[in-house]
Amino acid sequence: MALVSPSILSADFSCLEEEILKMEKAGATYIHLDVMDGKFVPATTFDHTLVEKISHIHGMVNDVHLMVENPAPACIDFARAGADIITVHYEAFPSVGEVHDCIALIHSLGKKAGLSIKPATKMEVLQGFWKEIDLCLIMSVEPGKGGQAYLDGSNEKLEYCKKLNEKHKGHHVLIEVDGGINASTAPIAVSHGAELLVAGSYLYGHEDYAERLEGLLKL
Ligand code: DX5
Ligand code: ZN
Repeated sequence: MALVSPSILSADFSCLEEEILKMEKAGATYIHLDVMDGKFVPATTFDHTLVEKISHIHGMVNDVHLMVENPAPACIDFARAGADIITVHYEAFPSVGEVHDCIALIHSLGKKAGLSIKPATKMEVLQGFWKEIDLCLIMSVEPGKGGQAYLDGSNEKLEYCKKLNEKHKGHHVLIEVDGGINASTAPIAVSHGAELLVAGSYLYGHEDYAERLEGLLKL
């Protein structure tokens, strides 16, 4: 059984509350919130003020994906806004030490800490953080927008994460994959070790949320 985190990036923002509740009713237990600052990625989405408004209208896990430069101050804002998991990008920090500090900061705020890497980043960088993080987010597309195709190179990274979990017995890091997830790519990602599937356009772009969600959840 896979876990699924529908990304609201592909939801209809003119009736966002309705969209979120519809997805929850369809069986979602996570909600993926893609934050973009126009610097780390070209696009801009929303900030903590939106998360503050929606994080308590549902009972799902607020899974915040920060695609922002120097994310530490934003972590404080999003923790206050109701995030449950805060994932930051390895590439968003000027130094490795600051990545460690930010993970500690997220924990000090009482939240689960996730670390993400972009497709071009070497997976070996994850090893040094494994004992500290709760979640690892493998980007299976270039971060910045929805609706892109799943990159096959992600499979090797998922396998690597699976191996790190086997190596670090007693500390399980949730393996999340994000980008291009649909009925064909989801089984592949799961077979390589993905446990939490982010899906935006595949879910929110469809009429029947429950039908598509169930297809992913049963993997
Ligand atoms: C992309 C975001 C994703 C995006 C996925 O930068 O991190 O969460 O919403 O969209 P799909 O599922 O359409 O590839
Ligand atoms: Zn995302």
